[in-house]
Amino acid sequence: MKTIHAVVEGIGHGIPSKVLTNDDLSKIVDTNDEWIAQRTGIRERRICTEDETASTLGVIAAREALDHAGIAPDDLDMVICATVSGDMPFPSTSCLIQDAIGASKAGAFDLGAACAGFIYATATASAMIEAGQVRNVLVVGVDVLSKFVDWTDRSTCVLFGDGAGAIVLHGRTDTDRGVLKTVMLSDGGGAEHIKLEVGGSKYPMCSPRHGDHSHHIFMAGREVYRFAVTAMGDACCRLLDQAGITAEDIDLFVPHQANLRIIESAAKRLELPPEKVFVNVDRFGNTSAGSIPLGLYEAERDGRLKPGMVVMTVGFGAGLVWGANLIRW
Ligand SMILES: CC(C)(COP(=O)(O)OP(=O)(O)OC[C@H]1O[C@@H](n2cnc3c(N)ncnc32)[C@H](O)[C@@H]1OP(=O)(O)O)[C@@H](O)C(=O)NCCC(=O)NCCS
Repeated sequence: MKTIHAVVEGIGHGIPSKVLTNDDLSKIVDTNDEWIAQRTGIRERRICTEDETASTLGVIAAREALDHAGIAPDDLDMVICATVSGDMPFPSTSCLIQDAIGASKAGAFDLGAACAGFIYATATASAMIEAGQVRNVLVVGVDVLSKFVDWTDRSTCVLFGDGAGAIVLHGRTDTDRGVLKTVMLSDGGGAEHIKLEVGGSKYPMCSPRHGDHSHHIFMAGREVYRFAVTAMGDACCRLLDQAGITAEDIDLFVPHQANLRIIESAAKRLELPPEKVFVNVDRFGNTSAGSIPLGLYEAERDGRLKPGMVVMTVGFGAGLVWGANLIRW
């Protein structure tokens, strides 16, 4: 039997039109462009209006990815949406996207692995395709964390932005392109470091028990920073090891865009030259599950990612979770 490869046939993106610059932020909290740019590399981010949500951004990204792939919505077998900021606890955001795009024959589910969500979702989709269970899968990565940050907390609100990216994976036996390898890791012992406590079954939004527990994102910046630097290198080294290749074989590195210093330290550990490292954190900040597909989208649009190239993606986030994908584009 021929091996089935999960090949990226289409890619799309969905971003809000509203731009929030560092100077705009300095009018809201005690911060300035120099501090944010120096510590994070971020200059501006996109922020949703009240009417824009995870599903509305996801639908825009999904439609573009389907168009690009030349695959009709009713040819999709599965819609997976990686998000931790879906429109509501249920129904799933993937179902809202499935309905809006008219994927009438597809299953749909959400996957929650925070900023590593797109890595986990791509791995799940490709495993289903490789097993022969499904042929066409839409993977959306989207987060709208601006609606959950504390806009009085300067140490977190400057970091996040909103955005979505989507790919269409298609099962093929006539090519060596496709998702090659994946690693997925976790350490729930670090759950305390980045969390949103209210809104789940422990502290429901409407319960008096939620008391002082925050309905905003809490993040212990320094702990997350230390974890991120180790996690990026760890996931990439394991991935390269398992694939039996070295960093020199990588044509493009598209890491989760959380902080330029974290990206640079991973690139240094892997000895990757700057021209192989994709960066757009300056324009989008940390868009969580949207970050990696948005990076892949821009890399392809700008001609930095072409069919046959080997791209390594890596992500880390709340959980704690981290992971990496190796894809022959
Ligand atoms: C958040 C982060 C940028 C902070 O950078 P840092 O160099 O660790 O800064 P610190 O937290 O040590 O704060 C240094 C000082 O800057 C201040 N500061 C924090 N945010 C500030 C802001 N937006 N503007 C100005 N000053 C700020 C702090 O209050 C502190 O002041 P103090 O020394 O008087 O107490 C960094 O820790 C980080 O990027 N962490 C990882 C976050 C991440 O990736 N999260 C997403 C995971 S998916």
